[in-house]
Amino acid sequence: MNSRAKIVVLDFGGQYAHLIASRIRRLGAYSEIRACDDLDVETARREYAGIIYSGGPASVYEPGAPRCDPALVESGLPVLGICYGHQLLMQQTGGQVETSSSQEFGPAQLELLQPAGLFEGEAVGPGIAPIDATVWMSHGDEVSQLPAGFEILARTPDCAHAAVGDLKRRLFGLQFHPEVTNTARGDEYLRNFIKLCGLENTWSLDDFLEQEISRLRDTVGDKKIFFLISGGVDSTVAFALLARALPAEHLLGLFVDTGFMRDREGAEVADALRKVGVNLHVSEAGPLYFEKLDRVYDPEEKRRIIGELFLEVQGREVPALGLNAEEWYLGQGTIYPDTIESGSTKHSHKIKTHHNRVPAVEELIRLGRVVEPIRDLYKDEVRQLGRLLELPPTIVERHPFPGPGLAVRCLCLEKAPEPTAEEGAAAAALENPKASAGAANKQGGVAEPGIAGLLTRLNLTARVLPVRSVGVQGDQRSYARCAALFANHPQNSEGAIAAVRGSADAEAWSEILELARLVPNQYRSLNRMLLCTARKDGAAATAAPEAPPEIAARFPVHLSEDRIEILRKADRIVHDFQLEKKIYDDIWQFPVVLVPAGLAGGNSGESIVLRPIVSTDAMTASVYPMAPELLQELSNRILELPGCDFVFYDLTSKPPGTIEWE
Ligand code: XMP
Repeated sequence: MNSRAKIVVLDFGGQYAHLIASRIRRLGAYSEIRACDDLDVETARREYAGIIYSGGPASVYEPGAPRCDPALVESGLPVLGICYGHQLLMQQTGGQVETSSSQEFGPAQLELLQPAGLFEGEAVGPGIAPIDATVWMSHGDEVSQLPAGFEILARTPDCAHAAVGDLKRRLFGLQFHPEVTNTARGDEYLRNFIKLCGLENTWSLDDFLEQEISRLRDTVGDKKIFFLISGGVDSTVAFALLARALPAEHLLGLFVDTGFMRDREGAEVADALRKVGVNLHVSEAGPLYFEKLDRVYDPEEKRRIIGELFLEVQGREVPALGLNAEEWYLGQGTIYPDTIESGSTKHSHKIKTHHNRVPAVEELIRLGRVVEPIRDLYKDEVRQLGRLLELPPTIVERHPFPGPGLAVRCLCLEKAPEPTAEEGAAAAALENPKASAGAANKQGGVAEPGIAGLLTRLNLTARVLPVRSVGVQGDQRSYARCAALFANHPQNSEGAIAAVRGSADAEAWSEILELARLVPNQYRSLNRMLLCTARKDGAAATAAPEAPPEIAARFPVHLSEDRIEILRKADRIVHDFQLEKKIYDDIWQFPVVLVPAGLAGGNSGESIVLRPIVSTDAMTASVYPMAPELLQELSNRILELPGCDFVFYDLTSKPPGTIEWE
């Protein structure tokens, strides 16, 4: 490959940096990532055909904010700044950046003013058939003054400088994220940038496969690889890739049944892999996991223990299998998002520890004893690679399932979380919207009557639940409460969904999604919005129609076998339901979560959350809009499980929520 046939993405710490690079590659140009302060003009001219500045969580005017060599804009190469990168580009070329009066996280409509540069060939002007101009915003600062030589190419209702460019010098800035799939025409804008760099159609995944096979042969040589199989797409594809590159006797797979697998999954995975001729050993480690996780409540602690147990089990199995530990290396099916969200790049913020990135594994990586053949790929690339490797569709199209399994979908609680002042204020405002509708909005965001007005119009009440879950807000990890919406039809749960998602009422559905977007934007102490789709409280039928049910935390609860069993049953119901209704392929992933909150004063029931999402790369996601009658039927089936008081439908996109709850 021509050494200048690549685009460099400078990493300013946003979790989007790798996503940009992967998207550029998918669009047919090779790209790689460098730390933002690791590129000078000479190197840029010698090695690259274009430069992208990524997003990042900092503000450009903060002391210590990450920077790059300002001379890069003089390199003569096309430069594209995205979000933080856009603001930095503006600042470096003489413009001004300020705190925005409204923080924006989520979709906005782009109005194109000039079909030039990144927008070459885009339709503009009266009489042109409308195209989807949705773009994805995630920022708290904005450009207030353009540098000389730049002009506005596009704007949104809340952002005057959504897209700017100096067409002569080929410098561009986008306030929104073109690299996420929620930006409808993001690929077209990026493809235009690739064209400006002269790199159209210069790279493909077939090339990756070829290069990776020879790289593995060169670097792994005659070492032997011991591979931990989780049963998911990633580890299977990674294992198949190694099997293509290395002799069969140099590979041994270990499948650790942690006790947190899905119903019948262990046996299915083992059968499928043995059928493709792979050496596989199964270790039944469930009792050990339950023992070590007894009375562990903290999500990070759970992840750490699970990650380390993987290695402990490996440590026990290696001698038991007669393998010499010195000779065998560890193979893992780690993919890009796993490494990014563990905060592995220099400036990125830790979202959560992936089980492949716990300290013991980090140490092995440092010693050069870990082989991760697909660590630079995203899920859709992994699937495509799986097809190139001729794996069966049942494996390649399988929904992603996290390595720690049901353990990260079973929330634990030591004691009821004390609400912080911010959480208390958010709960008071949401649970009693009329009283607070007129209150001044201290955070300067969207006016509160917007939320209160929507609640009234949709005939919904809200309750903040006494549990917290992981999310990602403005490139930073959050661990926050979630709010739940209740339709005022307690005696008839069908009404709950029909009221907001009747097939005839598309407007109500978009309004409820708007609520799910507004609430976490407005209240940083909330990162999720749920809709109650089934509830077991006959008493509530006679309650005042506007009162949401009283919900209490269940504690102390940990990863006990009986709780995992309830969750496994719920997961089985959901899995079979998707196949029965033929919606499995429309859904990217469908986590089912057991949440320790149930009816106040009731038995010890808990809640089940349904989280079907659509996505293309798991970096961003939105709720799968399930048909109301299906959602109702599924919710009713789940509600029949013993100890289930409420069923909720998670409406949260990513960001601000992550796909998993922990
Ligand atoms: P989040 O929850 O971060 O998930 O939006 C992104 C994707 O990663 C999967 N995930 C994991 N996979 N081990 C895994 O193998 C993990 O610890 C883990 N955590 C999240 C998640 O299911 C989704 O597909």
